[in-house]
Amino acid sequence: MKVDIALAGTEEWRTLRDVRLRALAEAPYAFGSTLDRELAFDREDWVGRLAAGRTFFARQGDHVVGLASYYEEEGREGERQLVSMWVDPAARGSGAAPGLVVAVRSAAAAEGARSLTLFVADGNDRARRLYERLGFRSTGERQSLPSDPSIGEERYAVALP
Ligand SMILES: CC(C)(COP(=O)(O)OP(=O)(O)OC[C@H]1O[C@@H](n2cnc3c(N)ncnc32)[C@H](O)[C@@H]1OP(=O)(O)O)[C@@H](O)C(=O)NCCC(=O)NCCS
Repeated sequence: MKVDIALAGTEEWRTLRDVRLRALAEAPYAFGSTLDRELAFDREDWVGRLAAGRTFFARQGDHVVGLASYYEEEGREGERQLVSMWVDPAARGSGAAPGLVVAVRSAAAAEGARSLTLFVADGNDRARRLYERLGFRSTGERQSLPSDPSIGEERYAVALP
């Protein structure tokens, strides 16, 4: 089924909440945050996340099947970091994931960023493969996954045109 990628507006905060909580419940191994932490978020938190205009939804018909967002890390002005990447298991392999990454890549480039980075957890080979296929390479920078410090994660990066 055809996948549409679109920027999410602040009025879609309930949709963001639903999709993000589904993501955190379904793939806790992949994210720095946790379901418990974000279950406590209120309307203001979700609207705040959308206010920057840096969150994309992937839709099949009316159904949101994927999410990706990005932000500027403090002290790394020339970069943007891709975060919250998730595709519903039923929509994996559908093109939603590369569509979301391409949308974020274009938006970050349009802001003047020179590279797009992301962290991928050790063992998350499906995500790693997707990113490598799209041109991301390991930078060698490693840290602990904030939600489970026993797991490591590695920064990947791709240059933007
Ligand atoms: C990561 C994610 C967004 C990728 O979306 P997707 O629809 O699965 O991605 P695609 O199918 O387009 O690409 C995945 C690639 O990994 C391959 N793959 C599938 N299962 C795999 C596995 N267990 N190990 C290694 N590679 C695997 C696929 O075949 C595909 O490669 P190919 O195109 O060369 O055949 C999705 O799997 C997801 O939401 N995972 C849970 C959350 C997550 O990990 N987010 C990323 C945080 S960094």
